[in-house]
Amino acid sequence: MTSPRTSRFPYAKGPDGIRRLGYGADYNPEQWPREVWEEDVRLMREAGVNIVSLAIFSWARIQPTADTWDFGWLDEVMDLLHAGGIGVDLATATASPPPWLTTAHPEILPVTATGETVWPGARQHWRPTSPVFREHALRLVRELATRYADHPALVAWHVSNELGCHNVYDFSDDAADAFRAWLRRRYTTLEALNHAWGTAFWSQRYSDWGQILPPRLAASHPNPTQQLDFKRFSSDALKSHLLAERELLGELTPEVPVTTNFMVMSGIKAMDYADWADAVDFVANDHYVVPGPQDRDELSFSANLTSGIAGHRPWFLMEHSTSAVNWQPVNVAKRPGELARDSLLHVAHGADAVCFFQWRQSAAGAEKYHSAMVPHAGADSALFRAVVDLGGTLEALAPIAGTEREPARVAVLFDWESWWSAEHDSHPTSRLDYHCEALDWYSALLRLGIRADIVPAHRTDICAYDVVIAPVLHMVSQEVSKNLTRYAENGGHLITTYFSGIVDENDHIWLGGHPGALRELLGIRIEEFGPLLDGETADLVLEASDGTATGSLWTDRIDVTGPDVAVLARYRTGAYAGRPAVTRRSTGGGTASYVSTRLGVEGLAGLLPTLLAPAEVASELPEAARGLVELAVRRDAHHRYLFLVNRGGTPVDLPAMAGEVLVGPAADGGPVLAPHEVVVLRQQAPGSVGAEHGDCTG
Ligand code: GAL
Repeated sequence: MTSPRTSRFPYAKGPDGIRRLGYGADYNPEQWPREVWEEDVRLMREAGVNIVSLAIFSWARIQPTADTWDFGWLDEVMDLLHAGGIGVDLATATASPPPWLTTAHPEILPVTATGETVWPGARQHWRPTSPVFREHALRLVRELATRYADHPALVAWHVSNELGCHNVYDFSDDAADAFRAWLRRRYTTLEALNHAWGTAFWSQRYSDWGQILPPRLAASHPNPTQQLDFKRFSSDALKSHLLAERELLGELTPEVPVTTNFMVMSGIKAMDYADWADAVDFVANDHYVVPGPQDRDELSFSANLTSGIAGHRPWFLMEHSTSAVNWQPVNVAKRPGELARDSLLHVAHGADAVCFFQWRQSAAGAEKYHSAMVPHAGADSALFRAVVDLGGTLEALAPIAGTEREPARVAVLFDWESWWSAEHDSHPTSRLDYHCEALDWYSALLRLGIRADIVPAHRTDICAYDVVIAPVLHMVSQEVSKNLTRYAENGGHLITTYFSGIVDENDHIWLGGHPGALRELLGIRIEEFGPLLDGETADLVLEASDGTATGSLWTDRIDVTGPDVAVLARYRTGAYAGRPAVTRRSTGGGTASYVSTRLGVEGLAGLLPTLLAPAEVASELPEAARGLVELAVRRDAHHRYLFLVNRGGTPVDLPAMAGEVLVGPAADGGPVLAPHEVVVLRQQAPGSVGAEHGDCTG
């Protein structure tokens, strides 16, 4: 589980002294003339904004030259916000180094794998390992923290911004030096490194640490363990930048919590956030929807995983969008109702603050077409009215602040190292998509109306779950193999898939037949993988129901080797026709199931009832609402809070869902949810007496 640090959350308090959910945005007043600032604060108050992230890209304004500082404007903004009752999550402003710095020190600029310099002109053009950059960044942090340590508006520190969004992989000489130092710490001896990297292959044996490089452009596939270690190192390098800023802030302002905005969302893969969680006082996340058939499942998945990273304590939604973004090929505006629905889905999954990029839509610069809380049209707009409405809704949800997510009975494991290693080059298929497979399992569960937690694979007590799904858990160490075995033997129900348990932590194959690390547990043995060509499929027959399903991407030639293994589905077509496709071993108290092909959402939704049957997991939703409504639950000692989110375009009846309505429609006999509508019901927690808010003022 993550560290207890993640509980220092910067709650705002209402006039009643009771804490509130956070509401606000990135605020970039330096883009606007002075006279707009007062209007900003007035509109923020109208919308119910109680926190903003300030000065994220203000380095060049705060420090216009190496030896001059300009804090006057920032003092004024801080004072204005404080006078308006708005707290400040103050950025350390180190995200985008100013032109004077990159001109004086071009050696801070990142270098690509092909040796090109990443020039200034956009943002985040700095090497995570540059000692020169670090020195300048920390100088700025020191100035800011010293100046604002006692400012009453300061409620949190926001280190840099989206660390690694553009600069995670740097192949410069600084990176090479730091990589070698990191490798020395990991392996101590060259002997150990040569073994781990399998350097006997292709004459890659190192005889001196100085010979080792980041995986720069090479003639063919770079060494896989070198690639893996470079990924581990690159995530660690950014984390150590975060820790360096954090340490200084901790010295200067020990009372002020520190965070940085993670990017738990599809497409962002390089930072192992499960490992970063202990570096912040509360977890913060940014999330943007990429339109597509599973877009809202992906939102739910990411919010759910963020909660898992935060150890199911409240987390902070630092950025999402009120409407369109500007960086997709086509930037689609949100439809009426979607703004509130998307925000509340994050709250349902544990967000105690709802913030946007950004407050006022820019008139100039690369993000001028990105939506904001105050659009180009101004406050007299449907969008700003929706923003004000959401502020009211969040105010009504004050009782939620500080509550935890109620654990589900099913967990889906998420593992960055398996993600990285399973998708390396020179594999049985280049088409494998780790995130997509994990999301498909979650989508299938949503479709069946079954709640699940997405949790970091190795930082979670899996024993708390009745069912653990481990899609493509490619990298399995001996220790993890033992844990999973213990789990299934002690009554847990493990479900895993193709290309799981194949390699150890050095990316070396577990020998003797696949999936080596899980072979005994699953009671199967695979001599050869059967990846499928694009467009090729393999049909399956489900033994119990005679139902069918279609596999793509992958098949396995499975031999059943263990005792008590049932074949749940067989291949009907393809190279392995007649052989097992889905198996389940009874392990005493529990079960261990294996799915050898990619079934997609439809196929998994068809198979899941069979896989879940031994654990007797069923939907908590009325039948007609399954697949249309998402249910997430938060709780405290006295209450359960049921979030019911209508994800579709049709009204849904929710008979028998009882409780006091905090937001949303009330109706005798259960609410009826309009398209995109959300209802939050408060129920008495089983066994609790009376409702009081005595512990909500933290
Ligand atoms: C984030 C970033 C913001 C803004 C936003 C636009 O990645 O932190 O500064 O660029 O995206 O969607």
